[in-house]
Amino acid sequence: MVKITVIGTGYVGLVSGACLADFGNTVICVDSNSEKIKALRDGVIPIFEPGLDEVVSRNVREGRLSFSGSLAAPVKGSQAVFIAVGTPPREDGSADLSHVEQAAREIGGAVESYTVVVDKSTVPIGTARKVRNWIGEELARRGADIPFDVVSNPEFLREGSAVFDFTHPDRVVIGGESPRAREIMKEVYRSLYLNETPYIETGPETAEMIKYASNAFLAVKITFINEIANLCEKFAADVQDVANAMGRDGRIGAKFLHPGPGYGGSCFPKDTRALAKAGRDGRSPLTLVEAAIAANERQKELMVEKIESGLGASLKGKTIAVLGLAFKSNTDDMRESPAIAICRGLVEKGACLRISDPAAMKEASWRFDSIKDSIYRAGDEYDAVKGAHTLAILTPWNQYRNLDLERIKELLLPPEKPGALPCFFDLRNIYRRKEVEEAGFEYFGIGK
Ligand code: UDX
Repeated sequence: MVKITVIGTGYVGLVSGACLADFGNTVICVDSNSEKIKALRDGVIPIFEPGLDEVVSRNVREGRLSFSGSLAAPVKGSQAVFIAVGTPPREDGSADLSHVEQAAREIGGAVESYTVVVDKSTVPIGTARKVRNWIGEELARRGADIPFDVVSNPEFLREGSAVFDFTHPDRVVIGGESPRAREIMKEVYRSLYLNETPYIETGPETAEMIKYASNAFLAVKITFINEIANLCEKFAADVQDVANAMGRDGRIGAKFLHPGPGYGGSCFPKDTRALAKAGRDGRSPLTLVEAAIAANERQKELMVEKIESGLGASLKGKTIAVLGLAFKSNTDDMRESPAIAICRGLVEKGACLRISDPAAMKEASWRFDSIKDSIYRAGDEYDAVKGAHTLAILTPWNQYRNLDLERIKELLLPPEKPGALPCFFDLRNIYRRKEVEEAGFEYFGIGK
């Protein structure tokens, strides 16, 4: 058992803190936002992450997990301090490290005995060395000679399955050369280490590179299948059969070959831009990643064009039901969601929108502020379709997978052209063309 402080109670920090406690460690999660800490102490989980509330409440109840608004005391009593603060992208694509630096300096100002400082946030390659310097500067300022080590321990959590991903990782990566630090980290992850989870010990820059390279590769893989899907449409080929056959090749793998409106989220867009910038700065450009970034932006524009050409008329004055706003299902997160660019694009072409999402409507209220006059916030997917000319599915929520197509058809406005069928835009390929056409729609998928 290790005494741990986790700084930052966002997606990464809260999931990491709760799961590290579940591994048997004693964990204090710290956040400077006192409202967040009060909510957590009241058992209110500020993020939509399936299963997290249960892990948090169980570990609080069993005395392994607690929350604090101040950092000094928890750090003084910890053997390992995890930095899990935000590293938002700057204009030039590089990561803003100000929160990491602040945390590092506060740690340097508080430590009183040997401590392993763990970079859990996704940070640019070389940050672990910077964290070491920032802590060293604070110790020097105090005139304190206290030993410490810094390791990089990147997370590979997918939103919507973060608890599962933390407790069943494909691998644990520890980036740090110090044997003393490695021993403590093995103890932190003892329950995973004992059940043969691949446990990789390497240098800090290598661990930081593993994180960026993994995320960027996944983003490139998604972009690849999106472009293959676009090409399939030119040849009436079926991208789902293409992806299925491709994925049977063990060297390719079946996952992350689902075409869609473009990748979003708080990681892929940020991490691809940060890695591309690192490539430019290092004069070793990541040309594939740069191309994927551009292609991903283009994919969102292509979705707007698909809807306009599918309707066969100008979007001016058309009402479109938008089903799904979150960047993926099982999350309320709309950060860099393709729905943002697509909805704005549709409104710019004169459309009015009836939007619906099972979890993201709250976030949508401020994200669509600039186009709010063209938006009706529907109660659910059927309310969204009521009086619309067409519907577009942007997020593959389970509840959108079995829509009552007859009811949808009745709720839609009748097509303006006599004999025309209402259009059904399935931008996540969650329906079979045949099923939708038999229900009396003109079906538009992606790549099929
Ligand atoms: C990602 C990585 O998967 C995770 O390992 C890392 O730690 C953080 O970033 P996340 O962003 O939460 O996780 O979601 P993910 O499930 O990877 O999806 C990212 C985006 O890609 C979503 O917009 C999703 O809709 C899209 N996507 C994913 C596709 O368009 N097609 C796919 O086949 C898979």
